[in-house]
Amino acid sequence: MGKIKIGIIGLGTVGCGVVKTLRNFDEQVEIVRIAVHNLNKKRNIDNLDESILTDNPFEIVDDKDIDIVVEVMGGVNPAFQLLKKAIENGKHIVTANKELLAKHGEELFQSAKEKNVVILYEAAVAGGIPIIMPIKTILRSNKITKVKGILNGTTNYILTKMDEDCASYEKVLKEAQELGYAETDPTGDVEGYDAAYKIVTLATIAFGKRIKIENTYREGITKISAKDIQRANELGYKIKLIASAELDENGTADVRVHPMLVPKEHVLAKINNVTNAVMLTGTPVGEIMFTGPGAGEFPTASSVVGDILALCSEVRRTAYPLPMMRCNHTETAKTLSIDETTNRYYIMLNTVDTPGAIGIIGTICGKHNINLSDILQKGAKDGKAEVVVITGLCNEGNMKNALEDMKNSNVIEEIKSLIRVMN
Ligand code: HSE
Repeated sequence: MGKIKIGIIGLGTVGCGVVKTLRNFDEQVEIVRIAVHNLNKKRNIDNLDESILTDNPFEIVDDKDIDIVVEVMGGVNPAFQLLKKAIENGKHIVTANKELLAKHGEELFQSAKEKNVVILYEAAVAGGIPIIMPIKTILRSNKITKVKGILNGTTNYILTKMDEDCASYEKVLKEAQELGYAETDPTGDVEGYDAAYKIVTLATIAFGKRIKIENTYREGITKISAKDIQRANELGYKIKLIASAELDENGTADVRVHPMLVPKEHVLAKINNVTNAVMLTGTPVGEIMFTGPGAGEFPTASSVVGDILALCSEVRRTAYPLPMMRCNHTETAKTLSIDETTNRYYIMLNTVDTPGAIGIIGTICGKHNINLSDILQKGAKDGKAEVVVITGLCNEGNMKNALEDMKNSNVIEEIKSLIRVMN
């Protein structure tokens, strides 16, 4: 049958891992070309055949010999134009590009359908953890209604270290950058964009309805303080950046990324450092959990090469490869706005130390139908107090109104933090 021919776009950390891992499969797969940004850069690959390198990625998508285009360059442009062209040219696609799928998945999957090619993207969500293929194949027997996870290693590392070392966000971020765990510009990770791209893709395939990135609420970890982590611990919680998607009985989806206080006994509270985890709830399976390395050269290469081999097993053998792995939904999900959601909240307030201050907080919450479940105040002095409360379940819109009243109250000087709480 001959070897399946692939072209790889991008030879950074993931690309190098893919090339090295594919050496174990060189009887099945031939790398015909690799597009790189800089032809003169030294690569961390022994005996790399430099004659197959090109700095023009369009040579790959237009190469008639290539069966599969592997995109591991990241970013939207020019990856979008390249993959569109590759699909038009009848190539199957393997990509690790979460941002591209979240922003332009619909268009790419539509053209893939028209051209009868397959787009596989196991590495785009949670790196080395197999999650896309399980949802699309063995879990097809389920109605999945909940996906919750820790989908970003950088922020999980930062929150873990802040907790272990009682250190500030700024200090730990700097250390993480020095160790290479955080990018020089960490925005994509610390502001929750990376996790949002991943939960959009996961929710779309889990619910079988398209979720739009613009309907996904996102908040990062930059406002979390060492004191929040300390108080959360005292109240029995860890703080984690949680990506969450839930489908209610009317088929409306609630998809978001934000920090949460997670009860210490919850499995997600125990996922530390750069590890990722995904919990799914489905009927009939119940609750299942996947955990492992969400990034890194070889974990990500494991998923990319797994996708390449899945395609190799069918391409040229059948006219309609991998039917279960294709995009088979057309509907866009109705989604809740964050103001319509129901949550519990942790609130840290700086107040004046005066008789009735806690009563005023309780009265404001009561006015907006917000019940209080925990209150913590320690060592008021010099006329100031720090009050932490955890609420019962309440509507986000009501909480916003209560915060406005708190801002206007003359005993509350500052709302220091507002973090949602997992049940
Ligand atoms: N930057 C991501 C993380 C890995 O920190 O988990 C790639 O999505």
